[in-house]
Amino acid sequence: MPLRALARVDLGAIERNARTLAAVAGPAALCAVVKADGYGHGMVPAARAARAGGASWLAVATAEEARGLREGGLDGPVLVMGALSEEELAVAVAARADVVAWRECFVERLAALPAAGTAVHVKLDTGMGRLGTRDAGEATRVAEAIAARGELRLAGAMTHFATSDDDPAFLAEQLEAFTPWARAIKAAHPEILVHAANSAATLREPASHFDLVRCGIAVYGMDPFQEDPAAQGLEPALALVSYVAEVKDAEPGQSAGYGRRFVAERPTRIGTLPIGYADGVRRGLTNNADVLVEGRRVPLVGTVSMDNITVDLGDADVAPGAEAILIGAQGGERILAEEWARRLDTINYEVTCGISARVPRVHGP
Ligand SMILES: Cc1ncc(COP(=O)(O)O)c(C=O)c1O
Repeated sequence: MPLRALARVDLGAIERNARTLAAVAGPAALCAVVKADGYGHGMVPAARAARAGGASWLAVATAEEARGLREGGLDGPVLVMGALSEEELAVAVAARADVVAWRECFVERLAALPAAGTAVHVKLDTGMGRLGTRDAGEATRVAEAIAARGELRLAGAMTHFATSDDDPAFLAEQLEAFTPWARAIKAAHPEILVHAANSAATLREPASHFDLVRCGIAVYGMDPFQEDPAAQGLEPALALVSYVAEVKDAEPGQSAGYGRRFVAERPTRIGTLPIGYADGVRRGLTNNADVLVEGRRVPLVGTVSMDNITVDLGDADVAPGAEAILIGAQGGERILAEEWARRLDTINYEVTCGISARVPRVHGP
């Protein structure tokens, strides 16, 4: 029996995407960003595949994610990029993860922890306006405070871009603010890694590469510019799959789903797929998506419910049990996460991160 809903993840695609990005970034090293369960792809298998493709670093947002990587058997450098409370900091340090600092009081907290040798990256906020300090002088003082402490190690100088996907002029401004500061820190501490680029910057701006690039979305074969990832040589790694559990005839006037938001205008056949918004098929796709069944696009019709959707099969003779692809390829047809993003007025990141824990991830080569 088919599974009601599953996310099929092609680890070979992740490995090849990492290889492509490592080649684009070279001689800079590649850090694969595997936070949020590897953007919904499964953190540990995605991390392993990215490592196989040449990612020498892994990055996550939280201390628990760093612990998860270690428990999953991943050694090697791991950077926790997010803010860390007292308790979370202890977890990150125990996981031997590198952490990010921008205030001297954080350095004090860090130095007071029992584990010795924690590696720290200093973050300058050059325009993202979230984490990091806007004050280059403060960032330098923090870096020197770390370097001066025997129990800590200054490992990096970093920033993060706000508009590398859609505003190259502001990207250039951020680079201009970051580069002289990072060069000065690197001149004083040549062993550190300077890093700034996310996927979009990696693909569009070689001057942003420095020593290391931090790529997330592109590792999974999605396009940071929301276009077809094939244009960047990237392969989507995830397929969202369900099956046709029920087929019924609908006469004109008969409806499907809550609120009767689809009413048949001609005799047709309605297929019911046991996947819904609790699985990550957002309700905004009501009457606003296609699904691949037997290699053809068929429209999703009616309201997306928690556990089911309905599709208009027309006069096609589809037998119950037929595979249905919501995201992915079948026959010569393809539905990208970018297509959902466009329909939902969001970004591909939210599409795959939104596939819920109820959907088993099945990893293949
Ligand atoms: C600090 C930082 N660096 C890098 C990334 C990776 O970004 P992307 O997925 O656009 O490559 C993220 C993700 O949001 C991030 O927060």
